[in-house]
Amino acid sequence: MSTLEAKVSKIDVEKIRKDFPILKLKVNDKDLVYLDNGATTQKPLAVIKAVEHYNENLNGNPHRGAHYLGVTSTEAYENARETVRKFIGAEKASEIIFTRNATESLNLIAYSYGLNFINKGDEIVIPVSEHHSNILPWQMVVKSKGAVLKYMYPNKDGRITEEEYKSKITDKTKIVAIAQMSNVLGTKYPVKEIAKYAHEKGAVVVIDGAQSAPHMKVDVKDLDADFFVFSGHKMLSSMGIGVLYAKEKFLLEMPPFLRGGDMIEYVTEQDATFAELPFKFEAGTQNVEGAVSLAAAIEYINSIGLDNIEAYETELTEYALKKVSEIDYVSVYGPKDVKDRGGIVSFNIKDVHPHDVATILNNYGVAVRSGHHCAQPLMKYLGIQASSRASFYFYNTYEEIDKFVESLKNVRKWLGYGRS
Ligand code: ALA
Repeated sequence: MSTLEAKVSKIDVEKIRKDFPILKLKVNDKDLVYLDNGATTQKPLAVIKAVEHYNENLNGNPHRGAHYLGVTSTEAYENARETVRKFIGAEKASEIIFTRNATESLNLIAYSYGLNFINKGDEIVIPVSEHHSNILPWQMVVKSKGAVLKYMYPNKDGRITEEEYKSKITDKTKIVAIAQMSNVLGTKYPVKEIAKYAHEKGAVVVIDGAQSAPHMKVDVKDLDADFFVFSGHKMLSSMGIGVLYAKEKFLLEMPPFLRGGDMIEYVTEQDATFAELPFKFEAGTQNVEGAVSLAAAIEYINSIGLDNIEAYETELTEYALKKVSEIDYVSVYGPKDVKDRGGIVSFNIKDVHPHDVATILNNYGVAVRSGHHCAQPLMKYLGIQASSRASFYFYNTYEEIDKFVESLKNVRKWLGYGRS
């Protein structure tokens, strides 16, 4: 056990790992070392069994049938909504909209709020490091409305300074949209401070919590987020379930994004009125199984404690950064100080394409992501085509970081550079 590991007393990783069947996999005859948690996370038995229980006992179409299974599925779905409400500290369950994922949530905001409340000459401000899902919807809005998309740029250390955000957010700014944690740099942006300043200027604030909500405590009221989005599959649940939180006052004035079953009050041949919140924004048969899966994931995360998870991942990341930085031909992106970042370590090995890095690491059973990470404007800003990325979750261990680093040291040798 390293000195760093000794500091972590509240996470029993070996016990936790027994809850995740997939972590026992062998890949290329090696123990799987799963370090692609920024892309998607694995599922504990509690989540797998909750979905099984739902399908074996409760499944029906919610909000429709008066029969037993119509009622049980409605209860399962609405209980899940309440679990999500508590998880992010929202005032009302009606402010929680289930979507497919963070991408769909961001598109909902852009189509329903952006197209209706942004006008010619208005400005939308985002960091250049955003995931495409928090860029493309705003590009669509500014092109449709004659508005302007303005960028904030991280400094050399991967942070957005006060000077930078204060120079970009002005009286013309109507929306500031920002990730709470960058999926490439790992930076934890000061979204609370940025939201305060944006509000002073009269802008609304959209926070993308896809990479943060799984790893740190989020309180939407404390952040004063007008909109907050995240995905279930990056926090132990099934794919295909995501969340949009919005303050009620926005949801009341926004038109529906999708139209169809279950989101109406009355429909005539030529017109329709809409259901109350949150149902106005959930057209069609809902993903109850996904919502159940997300609620089970939240309960599992709560049983460990997000403060413990964040503390453990910070120490694991500090350990990984230290070990990776010792290899002189590896460049690491993002803040040097671990307190400014989460468990994401993006890097490049001198003269080696990131896809080769990922392929060689796979031979050692180590799973990392390589490519542009759906952040091409950031890649251009950094002057690179792509990077490799290791991303951690609370089931990762110090031993796995050691295996990852040892595998990294072999990459150049594999490619004939003659040094390990
Ligand atoms: N958004 C996911 C990632 O950053 C897929 O890898």
